[in-house]
Amino acid sequence: MDSKNVTVIGLQWGDEGKGKVVDAVARSCRYVVRFCGGANAGHSVHVAGERFALHLVPCGILHPGVVNVIGNGVAYDPAVGLAEVLELRKRGVAVGPENFRLSASAHLVMPWHKLQDSLIEQSLGDAKIGTTGRGIGPCYADKALRFAALRLGDLVRPEEFRAKLAAVAKFKSHALGALYGAQPFDAGKIAAEYLDYGRQLAPMVCDTGALLREAVRKGEKVLFEGGQGSMLDVDHGTYPFVTSSSVTACGVPAGAGVPPRAVGYVVGVAKGYTSRVGSGPFPTEQDNEVGRKIRERGKEYGTTTGRPRRCGWLDALAVRYAADLCGVDELALSLLMDGPGEISTLRICTAYELDGKTHAEYDPSLPLERVRCVYEDLPCWKASIGPARRFGDLPAEARAYVNRVEQLIGRPVGLISVGPDREQTVRHHTRLEGLD
Ligand code: IMO
Ligand code: MG
Repeated sequence: MDSKNVTVIGLQWGDEGKGKVVDAVARSCRYVVRFCGGANAGHSVHVAGERFALHLVPCGILHPGVVNVIGNGVAYDPAVGLAEVLELRKRGVAVGPENFRLSASAHLVMPWHKLQDSLIEQSLGDAKIGTTGRGIGPCYADKALRFAALRLGDLVRPEEFRAKLAAVAKFKSHALGALYGAQPFDAGKIAAEYLDYGRQLAPMVCDTGALLREAVRKGEKVLFEGGQGSMLDVDHGTYPFVTSSSVTACGVPAGAGVPPRAVGYVVGVAKGYTSRVGSGPFPTEQDNEVGRKIRERGKEYGTTTGRPRRCGWLDALAVRYAADLCGVDELALSLLMDGPGEISTLRICTAYELDGKTHAEYDPSLPLERVRCVYEDLPCWKASIGPARRFGDLPAEARAYVNRVEQLIGRPVGLISVGPDREQTVRHHTRLEGLD
């Protein structure tokens, strides 16, 4: 292990259960850092029967002594972010400059981004991406365009902010008016609203890159909390049905402002099956009774949008590809099927077939919508796995399933989640320290 830092990344299409792993590791960390995405993420943590669904606050917020950071790579929507902070305070969680910092370089999600997101989706019709509607794509597009972007740090200089915003609002009013007949934006009103957010956030806005580089230099433990999943990565995912930021471990240095070495030990989180929200290819999808059973069993409805998730079998090719890409050291597996179920056989996809040719490895250039999956069948367990605390407590079928996943992905399974609660975690081959 190069450093004691830890990076937690989803290896599928999001919603792998990253929040629970982050929560478990966070207690021994000084910093927990989001480096990608924005309010499209929905990470849940269950503590003492209470559920916290976090979108724009890192999952370390429930641990005293942990400083939570929104890195420069995040698309920050201050309306959503502040509402979340206020809600946490209402529930008795202290949130302030001592435990929450935001990068001055993080880009602001503006009202036109959210409007543009929905107008583009509407205009695409059946070809839509199925975004979360949080303005993520348009915000990152403007970041890359440069002249139409606003950042958190801009809020501290009100006069300059107003002038800049007026110019951008004019451009956006023209563009969205011409393309979609949208109403012009009221720059003065939006500036007043955002400057008010700015006043509330100001004590927490700083150069978080400098803060984290200093922490890394001093050997303080930093945890990088991935958003989305590797198969949604803008470069390496199932493009164009992806999100708009770099969500693999490769996105950590750029999105947090730290050197690549700071990534540390990489934990890849995967479910024992697969889910996906929105459009795009999904080779192992079960758009049938089996998929419905998995959805009901796994309560597969979006944390952010409430949408029913598409469900299917574990895709070993996709997970191995993501694990290779992220340099995963160990896997954290959330095992789905709890208890006596109607599903007696579990399937794992071990190859794709296309036009008479067998592919044993994931290849981003394959037309995934046309591949046929080759499956390996394993018996499903009948007993409930919820009460298991050690590997030996798991039913033999569940242990065999975990062993097979280790072989297929070529990485040890460190942690196995057997339910939503903090206590419902089996430590298997983990090398993570400070989990108690
Ligand atoms: P967490 O962090 C699941 C998906 C959307 C859509 C695509 C693009 O909770 O795992 P976007 O709004 O980002 O432009 O949508 O990406 N998506 C997610 N799916 N979990 C997420 O985050 C996601 N974030 C984005 O459903 O298909
Ligand atoms: Mg989610």
